[in-house]
Amino acid sequence: MKSIIDILDFTVEELDELIATALDIIDNPNKYAHICDGKKLATLFFEPSTRTRLSFEAAMYELGGNVLGFSEANSSSAAKGESIADTAKTVSCYADIIAMRHPKEGAAFVAANNASIPVINAGDGGHCHPTQTLADLLTIRREKGRFNNLTVGLCGDLKFGRTVHSLINALSRYSNIKFVLISPEELKLPSYVKKDILQKNNIPYEQTTDLEAAMPKLDILYMTRVQRERFFNEEDYLRLKDSYILTPDKLKNAKSDLSILHPLPRVNEISVAIDNDPRACYFKQVLNGKYMRMALILKLLKEAGTI
Ligand code: CP
Repeated sequence: MKSIIDILDFTVEELDELIATALDIIDNPNKYAHICDGKKLATLFFEPSTRTRLSFEAAMYELGGNVLGFSEANSSSAAKGESIADTAKTVSCYADIIAMRHPKEGAAFVAANNASIPVINAGDGGHCHPTQTLADLLTIRREKGRFNNLTVGLCGDLKFGRTVHSLINALSRYSNIKFVLISPEELKLPSYVKKDILQKNNIPYEQTTDLEAAMPKLDILYMTRVQRERFFNEEDYLRLKDSYILTPDKLKNAKSDLSILHPLPRVNEISVAIDNDPRACYFKQVLNGKYMRMALILKLLKEAGTI
């Protein structure tokens, strides 16, 4: 039973296939409107979410299927002490596929090992968020037309930002990618990501605290929120939360075809004054997330023989 825990669970060819399916869904939505008639997606969200949960649900409805689930741990039997393994076995009796978000790293892996239906990791702690990366990739593809020859700036909380870790993993498999890692000292990219992905694959990268100095060389700027929920003390969060605020003034030396991405939710990282700039892609990213989740549900249900 194929589940998706990490973006590296896909080959580059599979990512290409998912993107091709998503583009076909965009062009021909009627063709896909009943493929999942009678099938059920369970959304098990032990942590808050707007985009991921609702886009999974919208995706399943637009494929003709139905949705069941919960949106907070306290409304499930996890509040009574039920394990992830037992939850996964139980939900396998009711649904055809699971999308699960959990605050603990590795939770989706445990669920996948116990479920008898495909499990999709919708975010596990500070570890991975592969379906956000699918949204990011479709956005890059639609905006830039390529995954090669790009200088990608990643800015903000690179330590706890699981979307950043997944995106680095995904883009590192393409050629001539350079990363500019822009963060406060305390929120630098974890050394295991640098060692196991960037250095192992000879991917050029630089680390800086200076967003404006980095700006002119960037093709993509991926802003991120400082992840309050992963901090051990509030004082550190308050000190670091506004480290980077993208304003129109800071874009004055940016490329005219820069693409500005953000997985959202944003707090203060991008001024609303940028929302109408043609380079702002973050709400397109939200919509692209739904199309990629539709493509993913189709792929996993087909592989499982459910449709
Ligand atoms: N990008 C993202 O995961 O958003 P939500 O937390 O709202 O799902």
